[in-house]
Amino acid sequence: EQHLPQGYNLRPLEKEDFSRGYLQTLETLTSVGDVDQEHFNDIVDYWKSQPKTYKNMVITDYESQVVAVGSLIVETKLIHSCAKVGHIEDIAVRPDQQGKKLGLYLIRQLIELAKEEGCYKAILDCDPKNEGFYVKCGMSRAGLEMEYRF
Ligand code: ACO
Repeated sequence: EQHLPQGYNLRPLEKEDFSRGYLQTLETLTSVGDVDQEHFNDIVDYWKSQPKTYKNMVITDYESQVVAVGSLIVETKLIHSCAKVGHIEDIAVRPDQQGKKLGLYLIRQLIELAKEEGCYKAILDCDPKNEGFYVKCGMSRAGLEMEYRF
């Protein structure tokens, strides 16, 4: 079984994470843009109003700073007898915290969460340069990502 470093914790996102470095950690993935505390609160309220669908998790360090973020979105379908699919989204580990197996721990936990929620699979889109990381998380390449960009 895998553990987080001493003093680190995995838990659901809270509004207070705005001032604990949530957006700075997310910037590791891509540009976040202008999001003030009010916008942040609105989005967190929206997510928390649909707790069966949105599962936004953070890993905090021993100083309660957010060092890794990631989300699971549970999609309820009609196919396969109303099956559910877990979508893993927006994974980021703060640069100075990479290589400590935080990403691995986070993905394993999100996959476990998807299983507990009754999903028959968990899927994600990623850059080819991250394939090796996700393979180490027990995932395998499937399909091809397509987009129509606006
Ligand atoms: N390619 C191949 N192997 C990798 C990579 C990679 N890009 N990154 C990590 N690994 C390996 C590690 O060496 C380690 O291997 P080991 O067990 O043999 O020692 C294993 O994967 C686990 O690594 P972690 O320490 O858990 O990785 P980390 O905590 O640094 O997180 C992550 C990896 C999330 C990719 C991080 O580097 C990051 O935040 N990158 C920038 C943002 C990003 O690309 N996020 C993913 C976007 S895709 C999505 O959101 C669905």
